[in-house]
Amino acid sequence: MAAVANPREVTREIRNVRQARLYKPDPVPEGVLNELLEIARWTGSSRNTQPWEFIVVTDREQLRKISQLRTPINWVADAPLAIAIVLNGENPLSEAFDEGRVTERLLIGARMLGLGGGTAWFGDDAQQSAAKQILSIPEERTARSVVVLGYPTTTKDHRPNPATAGRKPLAELVSHERLGQGAGSS
Ligand SMILES: Cc1cc2nc3c(=O)[nH]c(=O)nc-3n(C[C@H](O)[C@H](O)[C@H](O)COP(=O)(O)O)c2cc1C
Repeated sequence: MAAVANPREVTREIRNVRQARLYKPDPVPEGVLNELLEIARWTGSSRNTQPWEFIVVTDREQLRKISQLRTPINWVADAPLAIAIVLNGENPLSEAFDEGRVTERLLIGARMLGLGGGTAWFGDDAQQSAAKQILSIPEERTARSVVVLGYPTTTKDHRPNPATAGRKPLAELVSHERLGQGAGSS
């Protein structure tokens, strides 16, 4: 038996999780934020190391400083809230994977709760160092991104140089038994 009453509705919502960059000014209610932080806390990680800490950022000046690290994330300035993911910096490969997992769970959780979200990357080593200074993160830790959350006004990529929309068809992505092999071939 499915875990929820209408599983297709849930999977459709997961499939429709998009990157939101423009938000209403409304704040994220504390109860919603706590629910999302619980989702983050319960995310699985390599050997259950839980190699993360989370910084909740709502201060306008902090958000503005983060937004100025790189032009492609300038929209962060007008978002109501961002959660910075701070990693231990001990196992770069598995921590990158763990960061992806926690990010996606936050984005899915946000959608389920009627919000939207987006990931914003700080950029190269120098830009990551600048982000660490803004957020008082020691240089030896890893900090690459924030997950931005709020009530979106659109999920259209409004930037002058938008990312390509849509997705490749499954026929281009899926093989059977061996790479490039269609179903039923031997
Ligand atoms: C590793 C990674 C880094 C990203 N960095 C940024 C970023 O710096 N700025 C931004 O606006 N979107 C960023 N994105 C969001 C992507 O542009 C977005 O996931 C992609 O265009 C698909 O968008 P859609 O789900 O709305 O179709 C990033 C996504 C990933 C996975």
